[in-house]
Amino acid sequence: AGSLMLGSGEFCTNPGLVVAVDGPSGSGKSSVSREVANRLGLAYLDTGAMYRALTWWCLEASVDLDDEDAVASAANDFQLQMGTDPIVETIMVGGIDIREAIREARVTENVSAVAKNQKARDALIGRQRMEIVSNGRRIVAEGRDITTVVAPDASVRILLTASEEARMKRRGEQIGATGDEDRLKLEVAQRDAADSKVNNFTEAAGGVTLVDSTELDFDQTVQAVIDVIRTTTAQHHGEKS
Ligand code: DC
Repeated sequence: AGSLMLGSGEFCTNPGLVVAVDGPSGSGKSSVSREVANRLGLAYLDTGAMYRALTWWCLEASVDLDDEDAVASAANDFQLQMGTDPIVETIMVGGIDIREAIREARVTENVSAVAKNQKARDALIGRQRMEIVSNGRRIVAEGRDITTVVAPDASVRILLTASEEARMKRRGEQIGATGDEDRLKLEVAQRDAADSKVNNFTEAAGGVTLVDSTELDFDQTVQAVIDVIRTTTAQHHGEKS
């Protein structure tokens, strides 16, 4: 009920409200960012899904993931249609719905190899900036490098973390009780290690607010992020007057 006070109307005098959220796997950043966007009437961009979509396309088109230039040209040319509605997820490549396919193990296992390719990153970052602009800069964008590279000028920049234990537990619950827990932990740790070589998403850069969700449930985390948005935008209004 408290969130009603924070309907989109509160920000209607704001020309834009870009909320950048970074964090590691299992921090809850996707589900939390989507819910925050939903409650505040903002668009939502899952940039991890874009790296996954590119990985899916390369696997599908038999592009050698070690061939940097081939992956980069795929990143520039592939027919990605990325929705930004926080309620209805749209992720299509060449008209094929890949919302489920991008969560499969073969994509998860290969996505770090694509994400470390700087030329491919540059292409996806260009698309991400276009999405932010074409939504009138009223969007929650979420990933690993949004606060630092994609939208360092965002009105609100948040790093969402949780203890390693909490993150492993949440990842395990998402994937289901099918797999073996030790293997899952190893996979998450390996992926975090590979991704950390590309971007530092475990320490907050200057001007980035840390939200630690270790002791918070989903609703409390959503509220904590909304509180940061409220405080930051109130400060900005204060500065002007
Ligand atoms: O958040 P996720 O697990 O869906 O991210 C998938 C992969 O993409 C992960 O290996 C990290 C990478 N990624 C990235 O390098 N930069 C982003 N902005 C988002 C994700």
